Parts: sequence; structure tokens; C-alpha cells
Amino acid sequence: MTEPAPSSATLQRETSRLRCISCGTIPDTAGQDFRCKHCGDLLEVFYPDWEGSRSTEFSPAELKSMWLRRRSSFVPEDQSGVWRFRELLPRLKNDIAPITLREGNTPIYELPSCARVAGLDHLLAKHQGMNPTGSFKDTGMTTAASFARQEGFRWVACASTGNTSASMAAYASRGGMRSLVLIPEGKISWGKLSQALDYGAVTCQLRTDFDGCMRVLNQVVQRMPVYLLNSVNPYRLEGQKTAAIELLEQLGWNVPDHIVVPGGNLGNSSALGKALLELRNLGLISRLPKLSIIQACGANPFVRMIRSREKKLNSVEADTLATAIRIGNPASWKKALRALQETGGTVEEATEVEIAEAKAQIGADGIGCEPASAVTLVGARKLVQQGFIKRGEQVVLILTGHLLKDPEFTLKFHRGELFSGSPHEHEAKILAAQQRAPVVLDANPDAVIRTLQAAEKQPG
Ligand code: F0G
Repeated sequence: MTEPAPSSATLQRETSRLRCISCGTIPDTAGQDFRCKHCGDLLEVFYPDWEGSRSTEFSPAELKSMWLRRRSSFVPEDQSGVWRFRELLPRLKNDIAPITLREGNTPIYELPSCARVAGLDHLLAKHQGMNPTGSFKDTGMTTAASFARQEGFRWVACASTGNTSASMAAYASRGGMRSLVLIPEGKISWGKLSQALDYGAVTCQLRTDFDGCMRVLNQVVQRMPVYLLNSVNPYRLEGQKTAAIELLEQLGWNVPDHIVVPGGNLGNSSALGKALLELRNLGLISRLPKLSIIQACGANPFVRMIRSREKKLNSVEADTLATAIRIGNPASWKKALRALQETGGTVEEATEVEIAEAKAQIGADGIGCEPASAVTLVGARKLVQQGFIKRGEQVVLILTGHLLKDPEFTLKFHRGELFSGSPHEHEAKILAAQQRAPVVLDANPDAVIRTLQAAEKQPG
């Protein structure tokens, strides 16, 4: 940290506390489950100095230029697309170095053919799959794993649909800690499982779903000194906030009209919403984009709650090929609801065939993503049809995971096997035009040239 502090020294010093999102209790320390000891609801990080009258010393312009300058620094914290924004994050004690893999710093891409499909003039994607372990989880893991190490934990643990476990295992190893992973047996992609193994996690495949893994883990952390790294951990969400900050910076602080994000356990949407509100309250932006959350139809408890105007989330039995968001009882629904209401966003859902189609469309723009991320394109298209998004508005999809996270899904899609024998088989016939199965040929140039000529006659 080679730079002079901004004049807003108040922003930098030990200003963060935890607070219950329901009853407002401010605990001195968090319990193992990161829940309020009085009412059992989730905790969030808040910054007392930012509340009430804003510090007059605070200069948004100063922060913006300092964050930009750090892009050319060689200091690890500055090279991290998370810690670069450390003035808006909880502070580690005694300035100890965070565990960083230089996460964040993810690109924004134009998606021209997806824009046409969605009925938009332009469409942008911020690709969080370009993080070190291939998903947005790294931005939250660098903060929460650093706090775990600061607290002296030897073990960290999570329940996961695959990406959290991959990311946690990497950051734990980098930070000299051990990691325990609980994943639903047979319901996560091989790519993600192999990452957890390679990064040295103790990996338990439980005969249950994600929600069942979460239940077991909550009991384990009560009985053993392991640090919970699921997104109920409020330090995770603080790191994940930076995707929104970085996005605004990349857009020259011009606020887009809409941000569209997939919803599973609803930690990410909560984090992005928190960032937007804080940026607005601190004067870094003057208005809010609408944050909309898209779920798979087979794992849509939040969509159901919003549409039925219920005040409470009812869990569902989740089932979707987008295994990352195969979650029926999302922990952070109250935080996500607040993000939706305060930004004026909405919800949508995507069928299995729509998810597969949208994933191939994003791939055809040369970008690619994992199935869970593709729900955002489906959602954007439906929200344009409903008039919630206007053709000329600026829309940013948050792509959460890399294409290579789930190659089996992609291969089955192109071989036309994804929906074989499933209730979606008939509907899936519309996917044929997008399928590009590999062809096996003799090692002979004529055979290759015939294939080339046949392909030339088909639409690219
Ligand atoms: N997209 C991807 C690629 C994910 O891995 C996840 C969640 C989500 C979207 C949804 O984000 O849960 O914050 O609403 N994956 C978690 C995991 C649950 O264990 O890897 P969310």
C-alpha cells in the first residue's frame, strides 16, 4: 500500500461492524454460523462512519482517481480487482496482507448477436468467469478467506454446487489453511469437482442436494472449529460487491439502466445491490441501475415469492441442468429482496431449453459461459418483450462462470444428447440449428474439404 491515504481517512480506518439485517443487533463478534444470536437472521457488514451525514472530507473524485492509479501498481493488493477498492471494504487488522490471486479485473464484452436475439441495440456482459478459478466466487473468497486466516482458523468449509468449493479450496491453500467441501453427490460438474481436489480440499460428496449439504455443514461448524465460507458469511459479500464497483469504473461511472444477474443462493445479487446502494449513498454515482434476478424455472423460489407477493420465501425441490443454481432454499433471499426493491429491479425465470439455447448464443458471440450464467440472456430477452427493458437502454449481463466449468453440458448439447429421454426432448428440437457436433473422418484432406464445403452452405 504505497499510496498516500485519501483525505477521507475516516473511510479507511477500522470502520466496519456487523449488524443483523432484521433486528439491527450489532454483535461484538460473529458466531460460527454468522447469524444473529437474538433473532437468527443474517448479519451484514456496515460502516458506521458512512451513515447519517456523510463525511465532508470524503471526495468521490479522489477515490475514483486513486483506484484508477492503482491499476498500474505492482503491489499485490493494488493488482487485485477487489482490494484495489479497499476503502469500501472491511479492513484487515494491522494491514496484514490479504490472500489474493489477483482476482477481479474481469472484462466487459459487447454481445452483438445476443443483443439482436434479445431485441436490444447493444448488450454488454461483465464476465466474472474470467476470475482465477473461473467464477465470480473468487472476489468474495479473497476477503472472507483473509478474515478466516486473521481469526486464526486452521480449517475453512463450505457447502457448494461446485464453484464456491473450487474457489474456497484455492484460497485456503494459498493462505496456508485446510478446506472441507460438502457437495451434492452426482450433481456438480466434473470440472468444478476436479478443481477442489487439485487445490487440496477434503471433499465429501453427500447423498443429498445442495440444501441438504448446507444443513449438515451448519451442524459441523457448531461442533468443530471450522470457519464457514458460504455466502451467509458477510465478508464474502463485501468482496463480491467490487464487481459492481469495477463495472461502474469500466463504464466511466456512467450508470447502466439495467444489470441482470443469475440467482441461486442469492448472495451475489445481494452483494451487487449492496454495492450500488453504497456507491449512491457515498456520492460515487447519482442514480441506480435496476438490478434484476433470473432463476431457472426448476429452482425458482425467489421468482415465485415475488410473483405471488408472499412476504416469506417458500423453499422448492430444486432441479435444473444449470447445476450451479440448483438451490431450493436460498439463504440470502431477504438481502436480495432489498436489492430488488431499492433498485427497482424485477425477476424472471428460464426453462431448461431456453438456458441451453442462450448458452449457445453467448458462445456464438465468442464469449461462452456456464449454463447458470446463460439465464441472464433469457431474462433480458423476456424483460425486453414485457417492455420492462427498452430497446435503446444500456443493459449489462453478469456472466458468473466460465464455459469450461461444465464441458459435459456443452458436449451433450452439441451432440443433441442434452435432453434425450427427458420431458424436454420435443421442445429441444429447436436447438438443432445451433448444434455443432464434432465429425469423425479418415485422415484425408478430401474428407476435410468436403466437410468445409458442406459447412459453407450452412449459416455460420
Ligand atoms: N452462477 C454460478 C456460476 C454459480 O456458481 C452460482 C452459485 C450462481 C450463479 C448463483 O449465485 O448463489 O450467489 O445467487 N454457486 C454457489 C456455489 C451456490 O456453491 O458454487 P448466488
